[in-house]
Amino acid sequence: MSKTLAWGFDRLAPFYDSLARLFIGKGIKQSQRQFLPKLHNKKKLLILGGGTGWILPPLFEINSSLEVHYIDVSENMIARAKRKISSANNIQFIVGTINSCKEYGFDCVITNFFLDLFEDAELDPVIFQIKQRLLPDALWLVTDFVNQTRWHAWMLKVMYIFFRISTGLKTTCLPAWNSALIRAGAIKENEKYFNRGFIQAVIFKV
Ligand SMILES: C[S@@+](CC[C@H](N)C(=O)[O-])C[C@H]1O[C@@H](n2cnc3c(N)ncnc32)[C@H](O)[C@@H]1O
Repeated sequence: MSKTLAWGFDRLAPFYDSLARLFIGKGIKQSQRQFLPKLHNKKKLLILGGGTGWILPPLFEINSSLEVHYIDVSENMIARAKRKISSANNIQFIVGTINSCKEYGFDCVITNFFLDLFEDAELDPVIFQIKQRLLPDALWLVTDFVNQTRWHAWMLKVMYIFFRISTGLKTTCLPAWNSALIRAGAIKENEKYFNRGFIQAVIFKV
């Protein structure tokens, strides 16, 4: 993961949530909240590419004793996420990638709008690295885009161009993240679609 990408997301951080809401609508957050209640009795959560951290207050409302390891490559995203928590929350922030994660034994992981940043060829190794850090039967919550209609394809094209210009992202099309997870042994427990089927929230057991 290049330094340019981190700088790009640093620059986007102040506007990221508003831009996402403007371009996608309220489904962008609704979808990510969908399966959070499934984490109510979990102990140790890994969040990758967490962004500004808006998800942290609703998450800790559901499970206030959760130990969270929150990783994002952008310092500015992490700085924003730090402002969303209270001193009672058990959370460690790491500026970096999955390679920076020295912790193991997670019983749940969240990767929201994260797997779409990788090319198909990169996805298997990234998923493998995440899976290595999980306990058997861990829950994996994914919310991400789907490419099933011409409108989806058009939206994705515009978004990838936007991210290429604003962050230097090299990926140009949506990888087959569903198949990659299933190939890695993940079993789909439940799913729900939002925004005319453009966003899919899925809960996997791995
Ligand atoms: C599209 S945003 C999604 C943010 C958040 N999950 C959300 O949906 O609001 C992707 C996030 O992943 C971070 N990121 C990009 N590549 C990363 C990597 N290899 N490891 C960790 N974080 C990464 C970016 O800095 C950004 O905050």
